[in-house]
Amino acid sequence: MAEAVITDDLMPASVEELVEAILSEMTLEEKAGQLNSVDASNPTPSERIGDDIRAGRVGAVLNQVELHEVCALQHIALEETRLGVPLLFSRDVIHGFNTVFPLPIGQASSWNPDMVREGARIAAAEAAATGVRWTFAPMVDISRDARWGRIAESLGEDPYLASVLGAAMVKGFQGDDLSAPGSIAACVKHYAGYGASEAGRDYAATTIADNEMRNVYLPPFKAAADAGAATFMTSFGDIDGVPATGNDYLINGILRGEIGFEGLMISDWDSIGQLIIHGFCEDPTEAAKVAAEAGVDMDMMSSAFVDCLPALVREGQMDEAVLDTMARRVLTLKFKLGVVDDPYADLHRDGTPPVKDALAAAQRAAAESMVLLKNKNDVLPLNFDALESLAVIGPLADQPEDQMGTWVFDGEAERSITPATAFKAALDGRAEVKFVPALTHSRDTNTAQIRHAVDAALKSDAVVLCLGEEAILSGEAHSRADITLPGAQVELARAIKATGKPVIGVILAGRPLALTNVENCFDALIYAWHPGSMGGPALVDLVSGAVAPSGKLPVSFPVSVGQIPIHYNHKNSGRPAEPHNVVHIDDIPVGAGQTSLGMSSFHLDDGYQPLYPFGHGLSYTQFDYGPVTVSAPGFAAGETLTVECELSNTGERDGVEVVQLYIRDRAGSLTRPVRELKAFRRVALKAGETTIVRFELTEADLAFSRRDKSFGAEPGLFDVWVGGDSTTQNGAHFRLTSAT
Ligand code: BGC
Repeated sequence: MAEAVITDDLMPASVEELVEAILSEMTLEEKAGQLNSVDASNPTPSERIGDDIRAGRVGAVLNQVELHEVCALQHIALEETRLGVPLLFSRDVIHGFNTVFPLPIGQASSWNPDMVREGARIAAAEAAATGVRWTFAPMVDISRDARWGRIAESLGEDPYLASVLGAAMVKGFQGDDLSAPGSIAACVKHYAGYGASEAGRDYAATTIADNEMRNVYLPPFKAAADAGAATFMTSFGDIDGVPATGNDYLINGILRGEIGFEGLMISDWDSIGQLIIHGFCEDPTEAAKVAAEAGVDMDMMSSAFVDCLPALVREGQMDEAVLDTMARRVLTLKFKLGVVDDPYADLHRDGTPPVKDALAAAQRAAAESMVLLKNKNDVLPLNFDALESLAVIGPLADQPEDQMGTWVFDGEAERSITPATAFKAALDGRAEVKFVPALTHSRDTNTAQIRHAVDAALKSDAVVLCLGEEAILSGEAHSRADITLPGAQVELARAIKATGKPVIGVILAGRPLALTNVENCFDALIYAWHPGSMGGPALVDLVSGAVAPSGKLPVSFPVSVGQIPIHYNHKNSGRPAEPHNVVHIDDIPVGAGQTSLGMSSFHLDDGYQPLYPFGHGLSYTQFDYGPVTVSAPGFAAGETLTVECELSNTGERDGVEVVQLYIRDRAGSLTRPVRELKAFRRVALKAGETTIVRFELTEADLAFSRRDKSFGAEPGLFDVWVGGDSTTQNGAHFRLTSAT
């Protein structure tokens, strides 16, 4: 029975005092119990884990969102344990809950932190209404490898973009007050370097040099910590021989020591147990000690903490202060979320937005996440008033589940409106819509139905061809070595192209696909990622021109898988490739002797440029950039440099341009990338309108982790460019004359 340490008359003033009051009452076992997070996903969790909860061996619970079960489990914790400390309920709320927003990689294509924040806020409110108070998101792992299935969950290849958007997600989930209705704790994952797993094979080990870790992989984690993220999660990875979950240098050293993160660190699923499988620890006792001493506070699913930490302390092998710190962090989170004061809180304080508003937000997000990769002869937008018939073809055109994408446990497929349904609804009474899937799913190799699709195309004014990958082909443990369109989709695309009708390709996928073998089949190409519940209506908005496309790629699209990893912010090498020093394999005479042709950094067959660069994305209008000017040839630490350029919408339609500012530090104590994104802004301009886009740069924008590991800028010459993608040549120079 609960001795009710947590009672009103005991209520001291601060969270710290409340936490200390409970902590001082706890046995070693009860402290360790708070560190244990267990799965409750089966239908009758109270039977399976009820006794563990009663015994004080459970601090948090994953994956239960049935109200009566949530309440039953919470009831056990409150009424049938000695101290009555409530449980914390967690769930992977990755890109929406009941209403599904675009995949994170899709949201990143919007370059719109306000939208990202709003999506997370809506997801949080929907989740909180089922008792979930903690999500395992955002994932801010920098991803430069499209083979890696979890690129779908990422915010792309760029440290700055991922920093801005990851911080926005944290703010959306947590709101201004963690204990407010509809707020849930964020968990920034996977700390750190998980996205660099070798060959894009999930869970594979990697070697990341310290300079690269600090300058590429860690910035988004720092940004999320600075945004107030309550919790972090370790990665499954092995970084240079030290698994992330036992990595004292990364967690205690950098995250807590240098970045100053004071919140809670949870392991990934059984990643403490996996320290043994990695070959880093011999048994659960050693794994528990290593993880705890490295800075992990909570154990997801290995039970090593609850099983081993009390004995380790009792036998003098681990300091009790370490255990206290861990339990203190768990209890502090529970207080800050308000679950101690009101353990059933969000179940009766409904902060859930109306479904209609959530769907409208998901539709706006989906439209902003779609990237117009090409638009030959301005085939888009289609004039719906002049259309008599439209063919909607392809295995992804009517898949309510697949369009939601990976990591969807709670998304309601009934809320999904597919492209096939949306085009029929939009053109109802105006034009005939012929829908032919042609292939039953993305991996289908049976070509028998393609002729029906060809028939439909021949009888239509235009074709919307929805290809891609099913949701199950990306996400955790779903890496691919071949990232071309699977099944007979290329054959389908070629057959449709051969009809001569205008073909609007739409790719629904969880990763950048290698599209070289199919790209010429499309007159226009929209990369829709997995766009979520409202993918269909959002696509109609774009195709009809009701909404102007504004998405820009957050990752480089490779010509072929052999180019991977390919990213815009690479180092220069001593022999950079340029158009004049690149040779194509077909141009080398058979029997040619050793030749000095080229001698630069490229592939003989696929050159050195991506198919579509980072930052690329078209609109239905043209944006012209005037020359870049800087307010002074140089500036010193403490001063500000203004960079500006004129932006004109010279086309005939209104549009939104994502203006991007890149810099290059010409020489550093460590070699610097050829370009780095440092600022961006979404600018809406009416047809014919001109504006001045102005950015302010300070020394902080030029800072990096230097050779001596200190963080700061270095005086010297810099390039700065402002343009519509990462290849812009529209630039100027300036000098930083002093640095702190
Ligand atoms: C994933 C995490 C996730 C956790 C809980 C793990 O397998 O790597 O990202 O949050 O499971 O579902």
